[in-house]
Amino acid sequence: MLQAGTAPREDGRHAFPLPELYERVSRHVPAVEWPALAPDVEAILRLKRERNAVVLAHNYQAPEIFHTVADIVGDSLALAREAARVDADVIVLAGVHFMAETAKLLNPEKTVLIPDLGAGCSLADSITAADVRALKAKYPGVPVVTYVNTSAAVKAESDVCCTSGNAADVVRALGVPRVLMIPDEFLARNVQQQVPEVEMLTWAGHCEVHERFTPADIAEVRDSYPGITVIAHPECPPEVVEASDFSGSTAMMMNYVTEKRPAQVVLVTECSMADNIAVANPDIEFIKPCNLCPHMKRITLANIRHALETMSHEVTVDPDLADRARMAVERMLAVKPTPTVSPAPASAAA
Ligand code: 13P
Ligand code: SF4
Repeated sequence: MLQAGTAPREDGRHAFPLPELYERVSRHVPAVEWPALAPDVEAILRLKRERNAVVLAHNYQAPEIFHTVADIVGDSLALAREAARVDADVIVLAGVHFMAETAKLLNPEKTVLIPDLGAGCSLADSITAADVRALKAKYPGVPVVTYVNTSAAVKAESDVCCTSGNAADVVRALGVPRVLMIPDEFLARNVQQQVPEVEMLTWAGHCEVHERFTPADIAEVRDSYPGITVIAHPECPPEVVEASDFSGSTAMMMNYVTEKRPAQVVLVTECSMADNIAVANPDIEFIKPCNLCPHMKRITLANIRHALETMSHEVTVDPDLADRARMAVERMLAVKPTPTVSPAPASAAA
């Protein structure tokens, strides 16, 4: 049986499928593997038109998703902002569950799909709504600033959300001497450096991907590559961020690299980030280490296609808590951002 995208030529041999799209990912996907992926890409592009659907992809998605089928790409903040203004009936979230829930909160009337319900997050798993209620009882009157990497139930107990891209702005905007910054202990301690005037009360949640980086990793890479630029995500331990040249959300990391154009750079974060930036910046050399996020990597072209074919898995939010959770997200979106190195993350509409 013929596979989509591999129509036979006159000589009976199959033409290489979707060559323009392959061009974008050729440094990361071996040519021999592309004919197996191209039918999924082709089906997703068709299904998006038929369903009036868009694919929102996080910066950690593999290049064959990020650069071929995604309509909007970005960090958690950009995906939340774009989810709020997207003009489509269906949103497929190529990312983790809390991102899909945030998209649903901002689009209650739209169908939001996640290709794999098991795409979770160790930070979201580190805290429950009951934990937040207990914290509020212990620290009455202290505003709760909650990282978006949490469930809707936790957001519903919070005053305002934040992402790694706007946490300092959100804390400053509150104008209070003390906040509960949950659940990422390292993000809170890193933001504390930027906003020393506000005391951060933290929770012991960690990202399983970023907590594994150490200052010794940075020292080793600096020894091996003198002059290299080191960029770390703020979910890394503070000693790692301190040993780096720049720290920011995934979009801020991308913007920094494309603007400053270092000859050699290490992105202390999830591995697909470097692959995705490298596509448009072949002159920049990306050095390891990086770590894979097992949750982000559950999303594949095959399950995005399946999601659009079967309209599953639909993400819903309990109406009893949706309004309160939405309020915390909307308060975050209303905070004016401090300008960063460049205006917006790149978009890779197919
Ligand atoms: P960003 O908001 O920086 O994209 O981070 C999300 C995330 O889960 C990083 O681990
Ligand atoms: Fe969660 Fe860490 Fe994966 Fe981001 S990288 S989704 S914080 S587990």
